Amino acid sequence: MRVVLATRNQGKIREFADTLSELRWEITALPESVPPVTEDGMTFEENARKKAEAVANLLNLPVLADDSGLQVDALEGRPGVFSARYAGEQASDEANNRKLLHELTGVPADKRTARFVCALAYAKPGEPTVMVRGECEGVILDELKGNDGFGYDPLFYVPEAEKTFGELALTEKNRISHRARAIQTLLKVLSAEDRA
Ligand code: IMP
Repeated sequence: MRVVLATRNQGKIREFADTLSELRWEITALPESVPPVTEDGMTFEENARKKAEAVANLLNLPVLADDSGLQVDALEGRPGVFSARYAGEQASDEANNRKLLHELTGVPADKRTARFVCALAYAKPGEPTVMVRGECEGVILDELKGNDGFGYDPLFYVPEAEKTFGELALTEKNRISHRARAIQTLLKVLSAEDRA
């Protein structure tokens, strides 16, 4: 089955391709012709659903969309749905990481708890959209560690792995990440027809 992945984020695409490899899906990248969907929801779920349904209706194909981000407890859940543009529209990963470190200046290690959240929407034209969520708990370090992954990965230390996401190989991150957990849940709830 052909499924469109509603993202242009190369980091996410790599993770989806690896985690979904057990399905016989033919995963297609988002065509250049598809205009960006405005992510104006207040929750990850709202944004993921909006992206998936808009693209599914436009292309008349099944679409998988995620909306994800980092919730930092000491920052009352920020950057949350604004994770990609924390330091401004089109902000680089470096700028977002710098801003996060700045906002957490002086916050002690035991108060730097955080989690990555991923809401995943699977939309098919004319059918109810399937929604699932995955989370991964961690701690924000006070310096970058590791060169792998993308986004906030080098600042996100995962106690259960004893490493940051930036220090984990793709396959290791894909065992425990918020996105991987959401995908595992999706695979359990998809119908046999959709898994084919
Ligand atoms: P979205 O495209 O609106 O879902 O933006 C997600 C943003 O959250 C990304 O640009 C990253 O800044 C951050 N993010 C989400 N998932 C991850 C991850 O697995 N590692 C690092 N940063 C992530």
